[in-house]
Amino acid sequence: MSSIHLRGLTRTFPGASRAALDGLELEVTAGEIVSLVGPSGCGKSTTLRLVAGLDRPDAGDVLIDGRSVVGVPPQERDVAMVFQGFALYPHMRVRDILGFPLRMRRVPAPERERAVERAAKLLGLTGLLDRRPAQLSGGEQQRVAMGRAIVRRPRVFLFDEPLSNLDAALRAELRVELARLLRELDATALYVTHDQVEAMTLSHRIAVLRAGRLEQLGSPREIYERPASTFVASFFGAPPMNLLSGRWDGERLRAGTLQWTPPSDGRFPAAEAAVTVGFRPEHVRLVSGAVPAPPPGGSLASADLPVTSLETLGAETHVSLACGDHVVRARAGGFLNVAPGDVLRVEVPWDALRLFAEDSGHAL
Ligand SMILES: Nc1ncnc2c1ncn2[C@@H]1O[C@H](COP(=O)(O)OP(=O)(O)O)[C@@H](O)[C@H]1O
Ligand SMILES: [Mg+2]
Repeated sequence: MSSIHLRGLTRTFPGASRAALDGLELEVTAGEIVSLVGPSGCGKSTTLRLVAGLDRPDAGDVLIDGRSVVGVPPQERDVAMVFQGFALYPHMRVRDILGFPLRMRRVPAPERERAVERAAKLLGLTGLLDRRPAQLSGGEQQRVAMGRAIVRRPRVFLFDEPLSNLDAALRAELRVELARLLRELDATALYVTHDQVEAMTLSHRIAVLRAGRLEQLGSPREIYERPASTFVASFFGAPPMNLLSGRWDGERLRAGTLQWTPPSDGRFPAAEAAVTVGFRPEHVRLVSGAVPAPPPGGSLASADLPVTSLETLGAETHVSLACGDHVVRARAGGFLNVAPGDVLRVEVPWDALRLFAEDSGHAL
């Protein structure tokens, strides 16, 4: 188990107008799994390549166990990297593919065999050791690629979207296996993904990158419940957080046709009049039948909103509703007996709100 420390890591590619990575600060403690998440082009792979030693930073430092590795060749860093669509040697048997990194290090055959058997067992590949890649399914091939990384017990694992080439069912299955594997190995890992579900389920902490900078670092729960910006808020959650432009008049907060009066003990965090009001679809209550009177104080917004569309997924239904110039999305369990054009009574409690500065997008 080792720690990784990125200090002001900066990389500008020749001819680029802006830095691909701009002063990234990140500390991964020993045994920790940190996901790097963000849209395509935000610098995730660049970060991994700098840690692996496949590229050099223009400024800043990469430390493994407290020692700078900038200038240390990749094979001496004791780092294993797993890519998406990792190419396996077609003429080799699984046994030899798994043992290859150990052969390169001149590990004696009996010890090598034991390490291969152990890795194969962890990954459910024991019965496949004598097959060649062409005789394996996509999921099995990806497991072999992972086995090749874990067999020599490196100090640090780097994963670059290792599951993104697989179909949805297989991805879900391998996600669970990978979570178990990483915990069993007590691995220190940087895990790059653009899949929020992988980030939420696999990692201890999530680093959200935006245009080469760290936007937020926190536990999956912190990232989900207390997003630092509208960027993070809209990246996590399916459907993502509702973000409505709102106005505070000193007494009431209005957004679309919803309005709230802060509870007497509640405080309005901003002097600004223009705020972005955020709330998650699962916090929108759809009220049917006799509508109870809203509680005194008015800290619950309620309004009758027309349904614009529905997505029926079986276990849950996503409802889009018109709210002034905005669309509000709600998430309800099971099936709903409603159709586009129906009007639903909607309630959004004050406590569910996250407020952001309208200009910067930063949480208030
Ligand atoms: N070898 C390279 N040469 C020039 N530009 C590159 C190179 N690698 C990456 N980039 C650019 O750097 C930015 C970050 O890329 P990357 O780290 O691969 O993003 P991500 O993995 O988050 O999708 C992108 O704008 C990309 O086009
Ligand atoms: Mg990438």
